[in-house]
Amino acid sequence: MRKYNTILVDVDTNTARITINRADKMNALNAETLAEISAIFDELENDHTVRGVIFTGAGSKAFIAGADITEFQGLTASEAFALAERGHLQVMDKIANFSKPVIAAVNGFALGGGLELAMACHIRVASEGAKLGLPEVSLGIIPGYGGTQRLTQLVGRGKALEMIMTADMIVAEEALTWGLVNYVVPADELLTKCYSLLEKIYTRSPIAISYAIDAVNTSLINPENGFKKEIELFAQSFDTVESKEGIQAFIEKRKPNF
Ligand code: COA
Repeated sequence: MRKYNTILVDVDTNTARITINRADKMNALNAETLAEISAIFDELENDHTVRGVIFTGAGSKAFIAGADITEFQGLTASEAFALAERGHLQVMDKIANFSKPVIAAVNGFALGGGLELAMACHIRVASEGAKLGLPEVSLGIIPGYGGTQRLTQLVGRGKALEMIMTADMIVAEEALTWGLVNYVVPADELLTKCYSLLEKIYTRSPIAISYAIDAVNTSLINPENGFKKEIELFAQSFDTVESKEGIQAFIEKRKPNF
């Protein structure tokens, strides 16, 4: 594994934990951090010992307090276009389309690009009192790493526009009622909850899980293609060793060995 400056990577048996390590800057995403996130996901995609990822922030205050605002100063529209496009393709879409489960452990402020990154993850678990928001309009800009789209998909147009237009933060407990996070747990149980969700997922077929992620994501881009994709991947799943094992194990009344 290559050396990283702004992120920590801890790999145990099956799980890679990525920690944004800029606690003194509330783990804000600067260009170097974004490039490192992109690189680590490429590394982990090809590492067959890794079956899932947990994403979190260093320290007790912030998950990620957004894009590094100091890098926004003096940006031209064409530079901003390139920045957003790179962020979508190299980071957010890469996480959303990762073939293994990615869980965001939201351990504090998840603002702007930080909430966008959490929303790109497949599942979100937040610690009690964590604050989430898209404050971009208070800076005179709009979310640029998928926030307008992924927030709308997760919570619907009304709540999404309320959060974006007011620029207000909501606490994790409220985010839970919106469906923006899957669970809220005490801070000292946050990682344990994420690991235990992954342990459950690891008992299921990894190939089927990657197909499910693909089918769900396709529907978000184009619902009609999503239905077609589901039919294709359902069919393809019958060609895998894992489906043969899963179905055989059911018939033999034993646990499957994936
Ligand atoms: N970009 C760059 N630096 C940031 C940052 C960001 N998004 N968020 C926090 N920081 C820096 C602060 O400038 C400060 O740096 P300094 O110590 O060199 O002055 C440090 O992190 C600590 O932040 P501070 O504001 O002092 O902490 P706080 O507890 O008073 O407030 C926040 C925490 C998260 C509410 C506040 O930092 C904030 O509003 N951040 C910006 C959030 C935002 O608008 N994000 C969207 C960007 S599009």
